[in-house]
Amino acid sequence: MRYFFLLFGVLVLIVIGVAGRRGDLFRHRPLQIFPDMKIQLKLRPQTPNGFFASGLSSQLPPPGTIVQSPPLRVGEQQVYPFEDLPVNTGLPANMGRKPGATNFVELNPFPVTGRLLARGQQRYTIYCAPCHGAIGDGNGITKKIGAMAIVANLHDKRIVELADGELFNTVSNGKNNMQGYAPQIVVEDRWAIIAYLRALQLSRLGSVEDLAPETRAKLK
Ligand code: HEC
Repeated sequence: MRYFFLLFGVLVLIVIGVAGRRGDLFRHRPLQIFPDMKIQLKLRPQTPNGFFASGLSSQLPPPGTIVQSPPLRVGEQQVYPFEDLPVNTGLPANMGRKPGATNFVELNPFPVTGRLLARGQQRYTIYCAPCHGAIGDGNGITKKIGAMAIVANLHDKRIVELADGELFNTVSNGKNNMQGYAPQIVVEDRWAIIAYLRALQLSRLGSVEDLAPETRAKLK
């Protein structure tokens, strides 16, 4: 029993001696019993390093490196995703961060070109058609299999009359049962979808008078 106490005492002293002062400041690197991943074979930024010709750990990107997220080009303007501008929020500049703002911008900030519409059709088919249907009447596959009971008909007079900015806000942040698609669809593609949605709506609202005279003549 005596030897046990002696051995126990020595053990306690060893443990305290080795690990006891670990919180203190040392001139040397402290003894790490469980180093985990604190010490790694990697280059610290801005430290001397003999591997590179410049003698530094930090290197400039090689020539020809492409920026990962260049700013969005809207006409002459360059827009970054964090800027509080109509392109990003669907609201007038510096209004987008105010909760409950409803003065949405009337028009799509992107010029509606054939390229934008084609992109919008493709993205609409991927992201919206499963619920709203290929023609936007709310009869997508999710309704047929019974996954969603009520999906908005995008040809409703109320929705046709919404400002482009409000549609953008719905696509970005969602509404009631519809989730927001900002994380999945980049800003330009959301506006492309809205341009295409307007074309879908127009396809139902057009009249014979909208046709060119020669096409109208062919109809009769
Ligand atoms: C998972 C199914 C689903 C998908 C995918 C979906 N929506 Fe919806 N959407 C809904 C439902 C459900 C509603 C009705 C929400 C409510 O008012 O309860 C709705 C409502 C809307 C409205 C009407 C909002 C209003 O003011 O009442 C618009 C506009 C709309 N969606 C556009 C889109 C567009 C554009 C896409 C593709 C980016 C899309 N939705 C994708 C389910 C979906």
